[in-house]
Amino acid sequence: MPVPLNTTGKASFDDIYDRPDPRAYYERMFDLDYCIPELAKPIFQQQIREYRASARIATPTVLDIGCSYGVNAALLRLDTTIRDLAEHYAAAPDSDRVELIQRDRARLASLPSGSTDVRFLGMDAARPALDYAYEAGFLHDVVHVDLEASEPSDEQRALLASADLIVSTGCIGYVTEKTVTRAATAHPRKRPWMAHFVLRMFDFSPIAAELTALGYHTEQAPGLYEQRRFASEAEQAHVLNTLSDIGVDATGREDRGWLYANLYVSRPVPYPHAEPYHHTDTDTEDTH
Ligand SMILES: C[S@@+](CC[C@H](N)C(=O)[O-])C[C@H]1O[C@@H](n2cnc3c(N)ncnc32)[C@H](O)[C@@H]1O
Repeated sequence: MPVPLNTTGKASFDDIYDRPDPRAYYERMFDLDYCIPELAKPIFQQQIREYRASARIATPTVLDIGCSYGVNAALLRLDTTIRDLAEHYAAAPDSDRVELIQRDRARLASLPSGSTDVRFLGMDAARPALDYAYEAGFLHDVVHVDLEASEPSDEQRALLASADLIVSTGCIGYVTEKTVTRAATAHPRKRPWMAHFVLRMFDFSPIAAELTALGYHTEQAPGLYEQRRFASEAEQAHVLNTLSDIGVDATGREDRGWLYANLYVSRPVPYPHAEPYHHTDTDTEDTH
């Protein structure tokens, strides 16, 4: 069956974002060599290290926007790969949701204590994915909300306000400056650091402009990050058209069958205990 495309011309995986457990999600993403959370992992680890040192907070809170089944939290906490998680879930085809959750909780419990020292807060519009991530223990707290459509409730705002860093992979495009601004301003004064991996077909400048108005400095890191293979020729054709329309040269990149993302890092300036982010050569590598 052809993979449906959403309104942006990207393949739509809505059917696997909303399942009671992550098996279909990891199976499909592994099939497409989805790797952006894995490439993001060392960058997020570095951001967390720098935040911890700069703010002198031992256990910072990381808010993952569009976290789905707690993918970034799972990779960071288990220090693992998408392949490993895909194999982990594929090895339990007959397990029910409760058994899968028990396996995940046992895996997390076997980690040495203090191995991550991060509080993971996940936000998503897909309730079943969030519930799984929370019950399995990947996320310490969750916010089920669509900030494109509405302001957070007081309770949601209080949770969002606890974020020290906001990260995302594969979510900008689904969410816009509305969501990022609402998350960034959940706290009346504190402005969390940010690192977003954004497909080249999506324009980050409206988000950067809103963040600048809030006192942030944003840098686009050099280099590109592979996101995944195209799901179909139709998806590739649509994305190549979009890139051409917005003046992005896809030669040797998307025209070879892969989607690519940029990394944008935003930090508030001035900040009581932080320097603005400045990229150094060791921060990022071109991944292809
Ligand atoms: C491509 S998935 C990325 C999931 C995960 N970050 C990863 O990299 O594996 C996009 C996610 O964004 C979520 N999403 C879509 N629209 C959203 C919205 N308006 N607010 C919050 N999450 C949204 C989807 O439910 C889905 O979990």
